Amino acid sequence: MALQYKFPENFWWGSATSATQIEGAANEDGKGKNIWDHWYETEPNRFYENIGPETTSDFYHRYKEDIQLMKDIGHNTFRMSISWARLIPDGRGELNPAAVSFYNNVIDELITNDIEPFVTLFHFDMPLELQNQGGWEIRAVVDAYTEYAREAFRLFGDRVKKWFTFNEPIVPVEGGYLYDFHYPNVVDARRAAQVAYHTMIAHAKAVRAFHESNVADGKIGIILNLTPSYPRSQNPADLRASRIADLFFNRSFLDPAVLGEYPQELIDILNEHGLLPVTERGDRELLKANTADILGVNYYQPRRVKAKEYLPNPYSPFMPDWFFDNYEMPGRKMNKYRGWEIYEKGIYDIMQNLKENYGNIESFVSENGMGVQDEERFVVDKEIQDDYRIDFIREHLKWLHKAIEEGCNVKGYHLWSFMDNWSWMNAYKNRYGFFSVDLRTKQRTPKKSAHWIKEVSQNNGF
Ligand code: BG6
Repeated sequence: MALQYKFPENFWWGSATSATQIEGAANEDGKGKNIWDHWYETEPNRFYENIGPETTSDFYHRYKEDIQLMKDIGHNTFRMSISWARLIPDGRGELNPAAVSFYNNVIDELITNDIEPFVTLFHFDMPLELQNQGGWEIRAVVDAYTEYAREAFRLFGDRVKKWFTFNEPIVPVEGGYLYDFHYPNVVDARRAAQVAYHTMIAHAKAVRAFHESNVADGKIGIILNLTPSYPRSQNPADLRASRIADLFFNRSFLDPAVLGEYPQELIDILNEHGLLPVTERGDRELLKANTADILGVNYYQPRRVKAKEYLPNPYSPFMPDWFFDNYEMPGRKMNKYRGWEIYEKGIYDIMQNLKENYGNIESFVSENGMGVQDEERFVVDKEIQDDYRIDFIREHLKWLHKAIEEGCNVKGYHLWSFMDNWSWMNAYKNRYGFFSVDLRTKQRTPKKSAHWIKEVSQNNGF
């Protein structure tokens, strides 16, 4: 069959998930509590339909069945995360033997089925014990994380060759310390800056530990949610607004992770507002020497911005959006089932930016996907007819293909997500999977997109 969009050989086809969102068994087999277990126990009504993280999609008990389904639909890779509090219940110290066997079993099962595991160490789920001591605000937690990373490399590094220190490290900063959608629900830009900084120090220390370990014949990187920032117009005020949004929401993590240093303009802004974090001697060299080998890009939607219409009240707490307003561009295409913009070319712009300004670092799409509310309304003959998702993926893949043809170093595509899963405060509101999950029976059913991706993966194109 002649394919119009043929991908390079050994392209990574798969999907992405995270421990807290799929495993369930939150109170089983010695797992310690993390911030999500705790927040749900204290404020269940902040979660969509009061659904919490105890059971989620029950991957913990059904991983074998799930891995067969991955194989059935042509996955050659799968992104998962380790739950820190499952592996080390208090965050530091004693290992939980049941967790060691669980992750060993999952990894072995994947490899036996020719699916390469991509493992993230931290996907939003701080052990509660460490959060109680100050979480990412304190340097001791950076050290606890480095020890955890070292243990994970020692336990699983003989078989896992793709490691990621953090998933979207900006999200716990925004959610936990600026905009109140993650525990500990603080609103304080100075503390947010400290948390962001410590996360990157933790990243660099884990990268160093990985390269020092004797199982380091693999690669280590980070997963960032990149939102290309498009100005309303080319006038200088709009351009400045978009540049500053880019500094805060992309370059604050992308630059230190890939180039090993923070953008000077960001440092200047933080300095001007008294927000510079506390640092230690040697940090600068640490960051410079331990950059990512590989970058995962999560892309859902762009950011469109315009110059601020009203000056911010200088007595209100500092927020990055003091410098820009969001711009609702007329005529933009929307995912009307989730409320996010769909702009497929964004993925191409991101990859071009990585090629031009970030040394063409080896990268892949580590998440991209379309959330849909009340997806059962699309069931015909017991199967969700998610043609909208097929279009969404196909159109993004076309732009990705073009980027690759133009020399961008892109190695794969992972959909968010393998199956419907528990998405933090939104719980099961927006469904993303190739497989739907019946919340009562936990039964998995392929959606139309599952059959489609099988063909695409098997043909390595479409
Ligand atoms: C991504 C996160 O940004 O968005 C996932 O990495 C999350 O963890 C996904 O589940 C979807 O979010 P939502 O709010 O649409 O369910």
